[in-house]
Amino acid sequence: MTEANNKKGFWQSFELSALVAITGIIVLFSSAVIVTLIAPNFVDPTWTQPTTPYQVQMHEISDPNFYISSSPIQPEEIQAVYHLKNGFTLLAFQESYTTRILASKELEKYVTRYQSSTPLKLTSKVLLLRPPADKSKADALQKELNEEWKKSNPKETSPNFVILELFEPKENEAFAVAPTDGVLEDWVDENFVILDKNNQHSYHNDPGVIFINNPLEYKVQYITYFGKKGWLYDPAGEPIASLEQLKGGDMGFRSRQELIQIGETIYAHEGCWYCHTDQTRTLVQDVVLNGSDSFPAPPSSPNEYIYNRITFPGTHRIGPDLSRVGIKRPSRDWHRSHFWSPKTASKGSIMPAFQHFFDEDPRGSSVRTTGIPNYKFEAIYQYLMTKGTRITPPTQAWWLGKDPINTINLIEGARSK
Ligand code: HEC
Repeated sequence: MTEANNKKGFWQSFELSALVAITGIIVLFSSAVIVTLIAPNFVDPTWTQPTTPYQVQMHEISDPNFYISSSPIQPEEIQAVYHLKNGFTLLAFQESYTTRILASKELEKYVTRYQSSTPLKLTSKVLLLRPPADKSKADALQKELNEEWKKSNPKETSPNFVILELFEPKENEAFAVAPTDGVLEDWVDENFVILDKNNQHSYHNDPGVIFINNPLEYKVQYITYFGKKGWLYDPAGEPIASLEQLKGGDMGFRSRQELIQIGETIYAHEGCWYCHTDQTRTLVQDVVLNGSDSFPAPPSSPNEYIYNRITFPGTHRIGPDLSRVGIKRPSRDWHRSHFWSPKTASKGSIMPAFQHFFDEDPRGSSVRTTGIPNYKFEAIYQYLMTKGTRITPPTQAWWLGKDPINTINLIEGARSK
């Protein structure tokens, strides 16, 4: 054997298996690059974009109208505030048995009277409620209502009738405050009329639009409290001049959109995901548990998560799945008592209490029966309310199972469109 025969060429000294391995690595690596860079351009658009105007509204349109203060000086001043703009916000002025509304001739058409058979009247004109300027008229009505009550319930004391007056503010932009306990937003079913056609947005016609119940004008009075500058809600105070003022350092109001993002962070920090999942799987137990009495819930779709920065699909469930909790449990009061004391809201619950979502200990010197929710509560509550409400309007049909055809379409039809 000569030297030359002994010397193999580069390719001859190369093991075939090594060649296969290296080619394999290159193919795998480049396909991974192709998948991450190119594939997203070809996904079903319903995965990455809002599929209903309602979904956009939930994120964008309703948000700029909803503010809540996070840094008032006194905890009881935490209040939800609406920024109302002419032609933008839908309002309903609906009487109930105990709340009656006085209105001038011109404004009469905006009031939905108690027990009237006309559908709920909505308007996008900025109108507000206040204590009646003409007290004698209000007193007369109050007397009348009390007498009526006494006639039919002679033994019981009459309820506290509230009489308010509808008025048109000078500005076509205003702030309205709603007590944190009140119903802030409500769903509208298809049974409503919008009174001002020229101010109409396309989303106004969708059932499930958000409207605001009976707001009051928002005014504040500046105060000094233990050397600190603060403010109080005061109907006789100065009106808020601008959105910047409302959101600035003095008042510290946050929009609903900001609150949802804070809520997401709180959900992460508090470890809610340790016990809760955020996905309705296609499995029977999921769609049944998250559904109504009559109909299953739609399984989660990727599109529901588009506005989330962090997603918490979760892996195991110590508590129930939360992906439909915004529809299943819309009541702010329920969540308030549940976070304060899960055991009282839900018998035998092992969920820990989250009392740092509240500012005042009701068992301390305060006479209050529950803590005053602070911005942490508002944030987690607003965040939970996005769960399941970003699919399609949670029409009453879906939840109450009144309309099987529509429900089945919602569950099965949305994907095939
Ligand atoms: C130790 C586990 C655990 C942790 C941590 C936990 N939960 Fe729960 N959660 C439960 C259990 C168990 C239930 C069911 C009993 C009940 O309703 O309290 C529940 C119920 C709920 C419900 C009612 C759901 C329904 O469909 O009835 C909501 C809403 C909720 N939790 C939200 C949260 C949030 C938000 C956090 C974080 C701030 C959180 N939970 C942290 C265990 C937990």
